[in-house]
Amino acid sequence: AKKNSPFFVCGQCGLESRKWLGRCPDCGAWDSLTEHQQTQLSSAGRQTAIAQPLHMTTTEENTRLITGIGEMDRVLGGGIVPGSLVLIGGDPGIGKSTLILQLLASLAAKNLQMLYVTGEESAAQIRMRAERLKISGHNISISTENSVEAIIDLAGRMHPALMAVDSIQTMYSEEVGSAPGSVTQVREATARLLQLAKINHIPVLLVGHVTKDGAIAGPRVLEHMVDTVLYFEGDRGQVFRILRTVKNRFGSTNEIGVFEMQDSGLIEVSNPSALFLAERPVNVSGSVVLPSVEGTRPILVEVQALVSRSSLGTARRTAIGADPQRLALLTAVLEKKLGIALYDHDIFLNIAGGIRISEPALDLGVVAALLSSYLDKPIDANTVVCGEIGLAGEIRAVGQMEQRVREAGRLGFQTFLMPESSARQLQSSKKEKMRVLAVRGVSELAEHLF
Ligand code: TYD
Ligand code: MG
Repeated sequence: AKKNSPFFVCGQCGLESRKWLGRCPDCGAWDSLTEHQQTQLSSAGRQTAIAQPLHMTTTEENTRLITGIGEMDRVLGGGIVPGSLVLIGGDPGIGKSTLILQLLASLAAKNLQMLYVTGEESAAQIRMRAERLKISGHNISISTENSVEAIIDLAGRMHPALMAVDSIQTMYSEEVGSAPGSVTQVREATARLLQLAKINHIPVLLVGHVTKDGAIAGPRVLEHMVDTVLYFEGDRGQVFRILRTVKNRFGSTNEIGVFEMQDSGLIEVSNPSALFLAERPVNVSGSVVLPSVEGTRPILVEVQALVSRSSLGTARRTAIGADPQRLALLTAVLEKKLGIALYDHDIFLNIAGGIRISEPALDLGVVAALLSSYLDKPIDANTVVCGEIGLAGEIRAVGQMEQRVREAGRLGFQTFLMPESSARQLQSSKKEKMRVLAVRGVSELAEHLF
């Protein structure tokens, strides 16, 4: 294709197409595609292509900006890579601006110049937040400019060590016709900031609001463009906040950072297991502790289930913090393998504390909690469980078992119910004090648990 040939972008979902279509094949919106020209740098700004021998390229590993906020550095894979574009997404009000300001303050304290661009709040509002957070504001400059061209010009002159843009939805490019906040604008503004980051080696942190359906506005488009995507999550009624790596060109994904939102701002939680288990009821049916591994760190979480006879025609199935499909599957396995009828029971599953667990190791926790609630028999409070369950009811090995055992031991748990194959591997390493119970299938589960 010719370099300058136009292309079409769906204003609803950001889909790109070579030809115009009346209806977007991706999101189904009618008449939503508009024509674009390939963005070109003006001839003055055009880069001369260069190439260098691979072995002479720098890895940028040792030039990362260490933010000084440990939980943040962890999810970034060890700090911010120069010239990278990092997107922090999250619901409105979850604490993104607070996190950004604390991050800038931490870097500013190392005598680095920070540029904070905000289209959401006035400088006075930021100042008030800073005072509340006991941030002096030294080395932090604020701009309330919305034009991305003006911001790029400003950053070029100031050359800050880091620039934050809060939020990308408030930025607009003067060269694009559509309204601020539209997919086209968000996309174009991001493309320009990406150039700034790469050409001037200024790392840029973008804040993005998540829309109702869960995707960062300008769905998916932004995630493809940036180097790193972090989601800031949590239940607004709760104090925990989790910063999760969704994409990272410079580190592992599924890494999480845990914070607590207090009056004085976000506080790092270095011992999340203790936090997530703090309110755990003891000797109550339907509750069990699971050593989960998120990224590189084991975290103990409480899995809760409530199984009760349904008063409605169709039984309800609800999963909070876990995949509902997985719950449906595990319920079916229980029915088939243990011969219990759950079709006329409502089933509620919850991972306490507002954390979300997506690893298969959760299966055994779910099944144990379901069984405990169904039989109304509590699981011993000093026991943890962990393992994947297959459709035949077999319990399958999961990774990082030594880490899980260590974390459970550290928190004072004494018994670990795990897949037989995992137990065999552990036994050969022979250094754990934990009492290990090996299970092969869900049919053996009840005799070990109760
Ligand atoms: P904010 O950072 O503005 O969220 P976002 O940028 O994601 O929209 O913070 C939102 C909430 O956090 C706000 O309702 C007040 C609360 N908060 C605290 O509890 N403690 C604090 O120190 C600060 C600054 C905010
Ligand atoms: Mg904000």
